[in-house]
Amino acid sequence: MIEGRKVKHFLDLAEFDKGILTNIMLQGAQSKLGEADLSRALAGKTVLMMFEKPSTRTRVSLETAVKQMGGQTIVLNPTDSQLGRGETIADTARVLSRYVDAIALRTHAHDNLLELAKYSTVPVINLLSSWSHPTQLIADLITLYERFGDLSKLKVAWSGDGNNVLHSWIHAAAKFGFELQIACPKKRMPDSRVLNWVREVGANVSVTDDPIVAVTDADAVVTDVWVSMGEEHKGSALLKLLEPFRVTEVLMKRAKPTAIFMHCLPAKRGQEVADAVLDGPQSAAWDEAENRLHANKGILAWCLG
Ligand code: CP
Ligand code: NVA
Repeated sequence: MIEGRKVKHFLDLAEFDKGILTNIMLQGAQSKLGEADLSRALAGKTVLMMFEKPSTRTRVSLETAVKQMGGQTIVLNPTDSQLGRGETIADTARVLSRYVDAIALRTHAHDNLLELAKYSTVPVINLLSSWSHPTQLIADLITLYERFGDLSKLKVAWSGDGNNVLHSWIHAAAKFGFELQIACPKKRMPDSRVLNWVREVGANVSVTDDPIVAVTDADAVVTDVWVSMGEEHKGSALLKLLEPFRVTEVLMKRAKPTAIFMHCLPAKRGQEVADAVLDGPQSAAWDEAENRLHANKGILAWCLG
């Protein structure tokens, strides 16, 4: 790294201004339409991907994006590296920065990403932590943009668990100025730190434990699994709490007739969402999944451009 140059980490949407996020999103959307040529943007570059948790979309869409941009990937599982035997993240970051051009990590603890970014001299990309999932949100924003254009006029509703994906939705609502109405059980609200942040920045985000209140007149209804990776031990108590928050056809009728249904996937069909909604005409879940590829291109072009 050239001394004094800021490393362009992609850790959380909260750290960005709207202009940069808009550029990242538009670059992805334009590349999808063939209006931006990113096919050599990563020529000669290597992106390392490390996964402490399973992944289908994130792994395959990122690896595909890097390759379609002319770069190369290395994929490591925790047991493949000395991290699994206790080498520190700081030492690992110092060493890996000397080989590769970016390090992408899916991890349990968000602090692992912060530690990696602190010691890495190449960009670090958050591929999901227990705190947030920012690369997913760039794909979701592309999806909203494709369907509606101007994001600032939208009302988005969340019905479900107050989890990592919701945290990134909250960050996105604050940055793009759309309304976000959140319905979660009282015991599963988003983390108080993110709600305090909302108050500080003055975003149009509100919380309730009534899914009907949240979903009424929404342009997009969003949910995610009730049991996130690493929370399996919370089991049946969690499922019982979340039962009233399932997105069904009946709940969707409360939203605008033009509303779309969004889910980052994987879905637990019949749990957080009814099959009829996920497979129905309002479902944008498959476009969201497709847009992970294009979102990754926008993110990589910004980090390594
Ligand atoms: N949405 C998402 O991140 O999916 P994967 O866990 O399959 O990567
Ligand atoms: N909230 C989910 C998202 C999966 C992409 C999880 O963390 O497991």
